[in-house]
Amino acid sequence: MTTPDLPWGTTRHPLLLAPMQGLTNRGMRQVFGETVRPDVLFTEFVRVRPGAEQSVTEADFAEATTTARDIPLVVQVIGSADEGVVQATRNLVERGVRHVNVNMGCPWGRMTSVLAGGGMFRAPETVEPMLRELRAIVPGSLSVKTRTGIDDEREFFDVLPAFEASGVDFVVVHARTVKQKYRGVANHKLTAEIVNRCSLPVIANGDVATAADAQRVLDDTGAAGLMLGRGAITDPLLFERIRGCAPGRPTGEDRKGEVAAFLLRVLDAYEPLFQGDTQVLSKMGSVLVHITDAELRKWVKSLKKAKQVDALRRGLLAVVQG
Ligand SMILES: Cc1cc2nc3c(=O)[nH]c(=O)nc-3n(C[C@H](O)[C@H](O)[C@H](O)COP(=O)(O)O)c2cc1C
Repeated sequence: MTTPDLPWGTTRHPLLLAPMQGLTNRGMRQVFGETVRPDVLFTEFVRVRPGAEQSVTEADFAEATTTARDIPLVVQVIGSADEGVVQATRNLVERGVRHVNVNMGCPWGRMTSVLAGGGMFRAPETVEPMLRELRAIVPGSLSVKTRTGIDDEREFFDVLPAFEASGVDFVVVHARTVKQKYRGVANHKLTAEIVNRCSLPVIANGDVATAADAQRVLDDTGAAGLMLGRGAITDPLLFERIRGCAPGRPTGEDRKGEVAAFLLRVLDAYEPLFQGDTQVLSKMGSVLVHITDAELRKWVKSLKKAKQVDALRRGLLAVVQG
């Protein structure tokens, strides 16, 4: 057996920034790269365009080939073999992409009605041939990000042999079913069972919002590492807190100051990337929905109401400069 090519090298318990559509574009990745340095970054999912002359858009190629501060970047693809995911991956690799992750957990829209995203659980027999084809193309790590099933959380074990047989290097498990979407809590008891039964490194994902959550999930599951999603946006220093390099999450003015400094960085990164105030403000809105502290509600509401980028910037600067 060959040694797996893991994007985090020899780092013990790596912390990965989750792929999040509408959030982890290259601007956001730059902010994370310049501040808390996740061990690995992921792109938002790259859509395969079935039947199109170019299987991936130029905008997605740009996303897929821009990392931050040399942090390993994993490009996530979504689509089935029938839809041309193999050709799209080949095109991505031709442009220099090294690490590829296949989304097998997306709970939204058509992804669950076709055999892509979370829909893949409907046809486990299609998974291995597709992953084998991808394995032959991808020069770096090939990984899968999945949920525990469609509506039965033990469905994971039906597809696990396909992951193990096809040369996948690691598996990321968001311990909810597809049907659950974001309801309830991630079942890390099941993550522990998956870690136990899986011969591949498992990255645990779901509901890690504090350093204590991180320690508990690592201790309880024996996972190789953690992937942080919403918690990393809500608390921009979460990566550093988990590493013990920043104290616990503050409250009051200190919390407001941390959030404002983060939002200001994101705004600076978004302005050159997105066109015009409307688009920039809409993208900022997708970040602001993750700041849910009761004590910041009024302030966040006022930021959401900004009609111009300059007004938003002034609102943030007022807090940062005290
Ligand atoms: C706004 C948003 C967009 C997401 N987009 C993606 C995506 O493109 N690909 C993916 O695999 N998961 C996506 N997810 C799921 C996250 O990667 C992660 O699995 C999930 O949020 C659970 O982790 P958390 O509790 O740390 O947020 C998304 C989640 C959110 C909240």
